[in-house]
Amino acid sequence: MTNLKLPKAGTIEIVPSILSADFARLADEIAQVESANINMLHIDVMDGHYVPNITIGPPVVEKLRKYSRLIFDVHLMLSEPDKYYELFVKAGADHITFHAETVSEPEKIIDSLHALGVTAGLSLKPEAPVETIEKIAPLCDMIMAMTVEPGFGGQDLIEQAAKKCVQIRQIVGDRVRVEVDGGINADNAARLVSYGADTLVIGNSIFSKPDRAAAIEAIRKACISST
Ligand code: DX5
Ligand code: ZN
Repeated sequence: MTNLKLPKAGTIEIVPSILSADFARLADEIAQVESANINMLHIDVMDGHYVPNITIGPPVVEKLRKYSRLIFDVHLMLSEPDKYYELFVKAGADHITFHAETVSEPEKIIDSLHALGVTAGLSLKPEAPVETIEKIAPLCDMIMAMTVEPGFGGQDLIEQAAKKCVQIRQIVGDRVRVEVDGGINADNAARLVSYGADTLVIGNSIFSKPDRAAAIEAIRKACISST
Protein backbone atom coordinates (compact mmCIF):
# COMPACT_ATOMS: atom_id res chain seq x y z
CA MET A 1 0.00 0.00 0.00
CA THR A 2 1.12 3.56 -0.70
CA ASN A 3 0.15 6.88 0.84
CA LEU A 4 -0.94 8.27 -2.51
CA LYS A 5 -4.48 9.64 -2.60
CA LEU A 6 -6.74 10.74 -5.45
CA PRO A 7 -6.56 14.50 -6.06
CA LYS A 8 -9.55 16.51 -4.86
CA ALA A 9 -12.50 16.33 -7.26
CA GLY A 10 -12.62 19.10 -9.85
CA THR A 11 -8.93 19.33 -10.74
CA ILE A 12 -8.45 18.14 -14.32
CA GLU A 13 -6.26 15.05 -14.45
CA ILE A 14 -4.90 13.58 -17.70
CA VAL A 15 -4.39 9.91 -16.93
CA PRO A 16 -2.28 7.88 -19.40
CA SER A 17 -3.52 4.33 -19.91
CA ILE A 18 -0.67 1.85 -20.29
CA LEU A 19 -2.86 -0.42 -22.42
CA SER A 20 -1.45 1.38 -25.48
CA ALA A 21 2.15 1.38 -24.21
CA ASP A 22 4.86 -1.06 -25.27
CA PHE A 23 4.38 -3.85 -22.71
CA ALA A 24 7.97 -5.01 -23.19
CA ARG A 25 9.24 -1.62 -22.00
CA LEU A 26 6.65 -0.58 -19.46
CA ALA A 27 8.96 1.11 -16.94
CA ASP A 28 10.49 3.30 -19.67
CA GLU A 29 7.09 4.12 -21.10
CA ILE A 30 5.81 5.16 -17.67
CA ALA A 31 8.91 7.30 -17.06
CA GLN A 32 8.16 9.19 -20.28
CA VAL A 33 4.61 10.10 -19.30
CA GLU A 34 5.67 10.76 -15.73
CA SER A 35 7.95 13.52 -17.01
CA ALA A 36 4.85 15.41 -18.24
CA ASN A 37 3.72 16.57 -14.82
CA ILE A 38 0.87 14.12 -14.33
CA ASN A 39 -0.40 12.56 -11.09
CA MET A 40 -2.18 9.37 -12.11
CA LEU A 41 -1.60 6.27 -14.23
CA HIS A 42 -4.40 4.04 -15.55
CA ILE A 43 -3.84 0.28 -15.46
CA ASP A 44 -6.36 -1.90 -17.31
CA VAL A 45 -6.86 -5.40 -15.97
CA MET A 46 -8.75 -7.76 -18.30
CA ASP A 47 -9.59 -11.40 -17.76
CA GLY A 48 -10.59 -12.65 -21.23
CA HIS A 49 -14.07 -13.34 -19.82
CA TYR A 50 -15.71 -10.07 -18.85
CA VAL A 51 -14.01 -8.58 -21.91
CA PRO A 52 -12.51 -10.35 -24.93
CA ASN A 53 -8.92 -9.44 -24.08
CA ILE A 54 -6.31 -10.37 -21.45
CA THR A 55 -3.78 -7.98 -19.93
CA ILE A 56 -1.91 -8.09 -16.65
CA GLY A 57 -2.26 -9.23 -13.06
CA PRO A 58 -1.03 -8.25 -9.59
CA PRO A 59 2.63 -9.35 -10.08
CA VAL A 60 3.10 -6.81 -12.88
CA VAL A 61 1.49 -4.05 -10.82
CA GLU A 62 3.77 -4.94 -7.93
CA LYS A 63 6.87 -4.65 -10.12
CA LEU A 64 5.72 -1.36 -11.69
CA ARG A 65 5.12 0.11 -8.22
CA LYS A 66 8.88 0.28 -7.70
CA TYR A 67 9.31 2.44 -10.80
CA SER A 68 6.61 5.05 -10.34
CA ARG A 69 5.38 7.68 -7.88
CA LEU A 70 2.08 8.04 -9.77
CA ILE A 71 -1.31 7.24 -8.29
CA PHE A 72 -2.17 3.81 -9.70
CA ASP A 73 -5.76 3.92 -11.00
CA VAL A 74 -6.54 0.24 -11.52
CA HIS A 75 -9.51 -0.59 -13.73
CA LEU A 76 -10.75 -4.13 -13.13
CA MET A 77 -12.54 -5.54 -16.16
CA LEU A 78 -13.11 -8.87 -14.49
CA SER A 79 -16.12 -11.14 -14.14
CA GLU A 80 -15.19 -11.71 -10.49
CA PRO A 81 -13.49 -8.56 -9.16
CA ASP A 82 -14.39 -9.59 -5.59
CA LYS A 83 -11.83 -12.40 -5.83
CA TYR A 84 -8.96 -10.16 -6.89
CA TYR A 85 -9.27 -6.58 -5.66
CA GLU A 86 -7.37 -7.23 -2.45
CA LEU A 87 -4.42 -8.66 -4.36
CA PHE A 88 -4.25 -5.51 -6.46
CA VAL A 89 -4.30 -3.34 -3.34
CA LYS A 90 -1.44 -5.38 -1.89
CA ALA A 91 0.44 -5.02 -5.18
CA GLY A 92 0.28 -1.22 -4.93
CA ALA A 93 -3.01 -0.01 -6.42
CA ASP A 94 -4.18 3.33 -4.99
CA HIS A 95 -7.63 3.40 -6.55
CA ILE A 96 -9.71 0.44 -7.72
CA THR A 97 -12.59 0.67 -10.18
CA PHE A 98 -14.86 -2.30 -10.82
CA HIS A 99 -18.00 -2.78 -12.88
CA ALA A 100 -21.05 -2.70 -10.62
CA GLU A 101 -23.02 -5.42 -12.41
CA THR A 102 -20.25 -7.99 -11.79
CA VAL A 103 -20.89 -8.22 -8.03
CA SER A 104 -23.98 -8.82 -5.95
CA GLU A 105 -23.18 -6.30 -3.21
CA PRO A 106 -21.04 -3.47 -4.56
CA GLU A 107 -21.42 -1.49 -1.30
CA LYS A 108 -19.51 -4.21 0.55
CA ILE A 109 -16.57 -4.00 -1.85
CA ILE A 110 -16.53 -0.20 -1.65
CA ASP A 111 -16.44 -0.41 2.18
CA SER A 112 -13.76 -3.06 2.06
CA LEU A 113 -11.59 -1.00 -0.31
CA HIS A 114 -11.89 1.98 2.04
CA ALA A 115 -10.95 -0.23 4.99
CA LEU A 116 -7.89 -1.36 3.04
CA GLY A 117 -6.87 2.30 2.72
CA VAL A 118 -7.59 2.89 -0.97
CA THR A 119 -10.29 4.73 -2.87
CA ALA A 120 -13.10 3.05 -4.77
CA GLY A 121 -14.80 3.56 -8.09
CA LEU A 122 -17.63 2.12 -10.16
CA SER A 123 -17.67 1.94 -13.93
CA LEU A 124 -20.61 2.11 -16.30
CA LYS A 125 -20.41 0.48 -19.71
CA PRO A 126 -21.51 2.76 -22.58
CA GLU A 127 -25.09 1.48 -22.67
CA ALA A 128 -25.57 1.16 -18.88
CA PRO A 129 -28.06 3.71 -17.49
CA VAL A 130 -26.75 6.00 -14.75
CA GLU A 131 -29.78 5.05 -12.62
CA THR A 132 -28.23 1.62 -11.96
CA ILE A 133 -25.60 3.20 -9.70
CA GLU A 134 -27.54 6.22 -8.46
CA LYS A 135 -27.77 5.03 -4.85
CA ILE A 136 -24.20 3.81 -4.42
CA ALA A 137 -22.40 6.43 -6.49
CA PRO A 138 -22.12 8.90 -3.57
CA LEU A 139 -20.27 6.22 -1.55
CA CYS A 140 -17.52 6.15 -4.19
CA ASP A 141 -14.54 8.44 -4.71
CA MET A 142 -14.73 8.36 -8.50
CA ILE A 143 -17.35 7.23 -11.05
CA MET A 144 -16.23 6.14 -14.48
CA ALA A 145 -18.24 6.46 -17.68
CA MET A 146 -16.80 4.09 -20.27
CA THR A 147 -16.86 5.98 -23.55
CA VAL A 148 -15.99 2.90 -25.65
CA GLU A 149 -16.91 -0.76 -25.24
CA PRO A 150 -14.36 -2.08 -22.72
CA GLY A 151 -11.63 -4.37 -24.01
CA PHE A 152 -9.43 -2.50 -26.43
CA GLY A 153 -7.62 0.79 -26.91
CA GLY A 154 -7.78 2.95 -30.02
CA GLN A 155 -11.57 2.94 -30.51
CA ASP A 156 -13.76 5.95 -31.32
CA LEU A 157 -15.54 7.74 -28.49
CA ILE A 158 -19.29 7.08 -28.13
CA GLU A 159 -20.82 10.52 -27.68
CA GLN A 160 -24.02 9.31 -25.97
CA ALA A 161 -21.93 7.53 -23.34
CA ALA A 162 -19.87 10.67 -22.75
CA LYS A 163 -22.99 12.75 -22.20
CA LYS A 164 -23.87 10.58 -19.19
CA CYS A 165 -21.23 12.58 -17.29
CA VAL A 166 -23.75 15.41 -16.97
CA GLN A 167 -26.16 13.14 -15.09
CA ILE A 168 -23.36 11.52 -13.06
CA ARG A 169 -22.14 14.95 -11.97
CA GLN A 170 -25.68 15.90 -10.89
CA ILE A 171 -25.86 12.78 -8.71
CA VAL A 172 -22.45 12.98 -7.05
CA GLY A 173 -22.01 16.74 -6.78
CA ASP A 174 -18.50 18.14 -6.52
CA ARG A 175 -17.01 15.73 -3.96
CA VAL A 176 -16.60 12.73 -6.26
CA ARG A 177 -14.37 12.60 -9.33
CA VAL A 178 -15.94 11.79 -12.71
CA GLU A 179 -13.73 9.74 -15.01
CA VAL A 180 -14.12 9.07 -18.73
CA ASP A 181 -12.32 6.19 -20.40
CA GLY A 182 -11.94 5.45 -24.09
CA GLY A 183 -11.55 7.32 -27.38
CA ILE A 184 -10.37 10.59 -25.82
CA ASN A 185 -8.06 12.96 -27.69
CA ALA A 186 -7.11 16.66 -27.93
CA ASP A 187 -10.18 17.34 -30.09
CA ASN A 188 -12.86 16.01 -27.72
CA ALA A 189 -11.22 16.44 -24.27
CA ALA A 190 -12.61 19.92 -23.63
CA ARG A 191 -16.13 18.75 -24.48
CA LEU A 192 -15.87 15.97 -21.90
CA VAL A 193 -14.79 18.48 -19.28
CA SER A 194 -17.82 20.61 -20.18
CA TYR A 195 -20.01 17.56 -19.48
CA GLY A 196 -18.58 17.36 -15.96
CA ALA A 197 -15.63 14.96 -16.33
CA ASP A 198 -12.46 15.84 -14.41
CA THR A 199 -10.45 12.65 -15.03
CA LEU A 200 -9.53 11.83 -18.63
CA VAL A 201 -8.07 8.37 -19.25
CA ILE A 202 -6.12 8.39 -22.50
CA GLY A 203 -4.20 5.54 -24.11
CA ASN A 204 -3.82 5.66 -27.86
CA SER A 205 -3.72 9.45 -28.23
CA ILE A 206 -0.68 9.56 -25.93
CA PHE A 207 1.26 6.35 -26.58
CA SER A 208 0.86 6.39 -30.37
CA LYS A 209 2.77 9.69 -30.46
CA PRO A 210 6.58 9.68 -30.48
CA ASP A 211 6.67 12.52 -27.93
CA ARG A 212 4.34 11.47 -25.11
CA ALA A 213 4.96 14.55 -22.98
CA ALA A 214 4.04 16.81 -25.91
CA ALA A 215 0.87 14.78 -26.53
CA ILE A 216 -0.17 15.20 -22.88
CA GLU A 217 0.61 18.92 -23.01
CA ALA A 218 -1.53 19.36 -26.15
CA ILE A 219 -4.51 17.68 -24.47
CA ARG A 220 -4.01 19.72 -21.31
CA LYS A 221 -3.86 22.94 -23.34
CA ALA A 222 -7.06 22.01 -25.19
CA CYS A 223 -8.85 21.61 -21.84
CA ILE A 224 -7.50 24.83 -20.35
CA SER A 225 -8.18 27.02 -23.38
CA SER A 226 -11.83 25.94 -23.27
CA THR A 227 -12.38 27.09 -19.66
C1 DX5 B 1 -10.53 0.06 -22.69
C2 DX5 B 1 -9.74 0.59 -21.53
C3 DX5 B 1 -9.19 1.96 -21.69
C4 DX5 B 1 -8.26 2.13 -22.86
C5 DX5 B 1 -8.49 3.49 -23.44
O1 DX5 B 1 -11.26 -1.05 -22.28
O2 DX5 B 1 -10.52 0.60 -20.35
O3 DX5 B 1 -8.54 2.37 -20.50
O4 DX5 B 1 -6.90 2.01 -22.55
O5 DX5 B 1 -7.67 3.64 -24.52
P1 DX5 B 1 -7.88 4.68 -25.70
O6 DX5 B 1 -7.56 6.03 -25.13
O7 DX5 B 1 -6.90 4.22 -26.70
O8 DX5 B 1 -9.29 4.58 -26.16
ZN1 ZN C 1 -9.64 1.52 -18.54
